[in-house]
Amino acid sequence: MKRRAEITGWGKYVPEKVLTNNDLAKMVDTNDEWITSRTGIKERRIRTDTDTTTSMAVAAAREAMTVAEVDASEIDLIVVANSSPDYLLPAPANFVQHELGASCPALTVAAGCSGWVYALVTASQFIETGAYNNILVIGVELISYALDYTDRSTCILFGDAAAAVVLQPSTGDAGVMTFELGSDGGQAHHLWVPGGGTRNPVSQNVVDNREMYIRMNGQEVFKFATRKFTSCIKNIAEQAGMKPADLDLIIPHQANLRIIEYAAGLLGLSMDKFFVNLHKYGNTSAASIPLALVEAIQEGRVKPGDVTGMVAFGSGLSWAGAVVRMGEAVAKVAPQSVVAGVMQ
Ligand code: UT7
Repeated sequence: MKRRAEITGWGKYVPEKVLTNNDLAKMVDTNDEWITSRTGIKERRIRTDTDTTTSMAVAAAREAMTVAEVDASEIDLIVVANSSPDYLLPAPANFVQHELGASCPALTVAAGCSGWVYALVTASQFIETGAYNNILVIGVELISYALDYTDRSTCILFGDAAAAVVLQPSTGDAGVMTFELGSDGGQAHHLWVPGGGTRNPVSQNVVDNREMYIRMNGQEVFKFATRKFTSCIKNIAEQAGMKPADLDLIIPHQANLRIIEYAAGLLGLSMDKFFVNLHKYGNTSAASIPLALVEAIQEGRVKPGDVTGMVAFGSGLSWAGAVVRMGEAVAKVAPQSVVAGVMQ
């Protein structure tokens, strides 16, 4: 049997501070009805003064390591999916490695909202080849720093969070089964930060034009997202010898409830097949899928042997999907976590 990368530990961290739709309505010309009906989002978490990209990632990683019963000294590789680093250099994974007290290589994957699935697939290759045995795969975003709180079309969508899993070699058939990764850089300008990089360095002009913040063409991203969502789910299911309907649970990127509902319709699937928690957190970019996965496990929505489909899309424009079979670890820990009170 092929050596597969199984998810054996999971954890999350969300900042305490809640920003509701009504709070946003005091900042920009919007209202709860518009945000709820167009996105499904009710509130999101925003970092407090003590939260950093590193601190959030480390908190989620520690929880995942506790569940997997691995110590920092046993971690062979840390992969951090992130597009909102503490500093431009070095990359966030190095800070996370140091804070955790691990002495292993640390790699950062910057692929926007698709980043964590890219990271999961990257990490799983090291397990499958036998190179490594214990890998932390973290998705973290402190994306509020890149939001223009005078732009109602973007600031209502996003929130800050971190979530992590531990990957280990499977003893059975659990683990990452199939994947699809994709990029269409020709559409990059539909979701980007136009200022602050080498092509348009920080200057008074950049600041005056607010070009250091996220700009998005929402309708184009919406069209791209629904197209890729459906084709990616079909492709990764087919690679696994399944149809989308055979997947026990789909854990999609939590960008917009309408995107999930539209894709569900195109796939001919009921919404019961999809795990949704975006009403609580909004779009947390690279943290979105792992945060949904952690909550799906903690709420007992996945059982050992269940086959889950994960699908992400976002800046790049990029997309990424994976089919993952859950192992026995889910049964061992999930009920306890639910009793522990949703671990907020
Ligand atoms: O990880 C990937 C990240 N991005 C996405 O997934 C985003 C994908 N796109 C979307 O989710 C949606 O396009 C949005 C939620 C961003 C926008 O929804 P929409 O239904 O596409 O709205 P729209 O852009 O067509 O705007 C409709 C109207 C406009 O007013 P007019 O021109 O019709 O008078 C906007 O100015 O809604 C207005 N509007 C708002 N009104 C109240 C835009 N944002 C807001 C707001 N509150 N926050």
